[in-house]
Amino acid sequence: MIEARGNLLFIEEVPAVEIAEKVGTPVYVTSKSLLEKNVESYLESFPRSKILYAVKANNNLAIMKIIAKKGLGADVFSGGELYLSLLAGFNKDLILFNGNSKSDDEIREGIDAGVKFSVDSYDELFTISEISDKEVEIAFRINPDVDPKTHPKIATGLRESKFGIPQSEALKAYEVSLKTKKVKPVGIHCHIGSQIKDLSAFCEALNKIFDVAKEVEKLGIELEFLDIGGGLAIDYDGTGAPKPLDLANALIPIYESRLSELRSEPSLWLEPGRSIVGKTTVLLTKVNAVKKGYRNFVAVDAGFNLLLRPAMYGAYHRVEVANKMNLERSLTCDVVGPICESGDILARDRKLPEVKKGDIVAIFDAGAYGFVMSSQYNGRPRCAEVLVSGKKWWIIRERENYSDLLAKQKVPECLY
Ligand code: LLP
Repeated sequence: MIEARGNLLFIEEVPAVEIAEKVGTPVYVTSKSLLEKNVESYLESFPRSKILYAVKANNNLAIMKIIAKKGLGADVFSGGELYLSLLAGFNKDLILFNGNSKSDDEIREGIDAGVKFSVDSYDELFTISEISDKEVEIAFRINPDVDPKTHPKIATGLRESKFGIPQSEALKAYEVSLKTKKVKPVGIHCHIGSQIKDLSAFCEALNKIFDVAKEVEKLGIELEFLDIGGGLAIDYDGTGAPKPLDLANALIPIYESRLSELRSEPSLWLEPGRSIVGKTTVLLTKVNAVKKGYRNFVAVDAGFNLLLRPAMYGAYHRVEVANKMNLERSLTCDVVGPICESGDILARDRKLPEVKKGDIVAIFDAGAYGFVMSSQYNGRPRCAEVLVSGKKWWIIRERENYSDLLAKQKVPECLY
């Protein structure tokens, strides 16, 4: 659905260059059918589980609405994500409010919305109890100390990670929660990291969650869910990645066999983000200059202001020239952005066709942690977003302009 036809890149039935011309660049372009297909692949692979979309991966309202319409829940990590999820129409019974440092205001917002909490500390537990005027359903986020073998910045279930309560403390935490007014423990939550290819890490985590569940049940707690978090990788560089069905084939047998060890029948919850939205989207960016020298540089109009992943994690994103698909790749180059920093490199040592000023470069697999991590650094307004369905397309976020650089700014009168 995002593919070459002749020399042109198409997003569904629309040539990328048409969107670049009409909307300008840079622009994120998302395929609606790819998005729906990815959601369906989770629903088909996990027919008896609940899938909570990790809103942090992409919180564009139109994209969230497409996902909400398919019946998924939402994993939210801030008051803002909660606000957007409710607006997008996610069912509040399937919203889990995660986060290791929720403010009192955010906790209040979660309670008012009637969503469940993944509690990350005793301070949070007691604050919920203090603030709430009604019973709040909670899970504790457990840190199972599992190595997900991914980039260190996105490993979240290791002993030294800031997230969760050590597994050895879990029983005590649930015990305390039973003595704490207005909180009702109903689940167990963990999330071990992101861009994980090694399915055995998920299996290890699920086994550990079952170990905790067995202990917790002895306290008389009735468990409604075991949430294994998100983290399934996508294939950025052609080396392959497991699919939701592979994850299901790894997890469901463990879940089913170990369920017999429990009294209650908690359902299995997952929180995928990247594997739902990552591959649905390309970032189109125009070539401003080609410079040949010690190295060859293709300078485009998007940099780490719009796609931070290469600079932040050394992430690999496939790069193509959207108006020169299938041409001989004779130029070895670095694709760099317009930001005043040497680290503003989108792609290193790539083989591209002979690129010229004005060509449209497509950065692939940019739907997860793309626009959401963008900034206005260097005085650059954020870019537009477009949704494509068949031959139709819509702007789902307007490009910012210079006046947006002033949004909310105030100049004291004495400076006029
Ligand atoms: N649940 C929790 C509690 C999480 O912290 C995350 C991601 C997810 C679910 C979704 O994980 P996913 O399925 O998307 O891997 N900005 C980084 C990724 C940060 C992930 C943070 N947590 C990147 O661009 O690679």
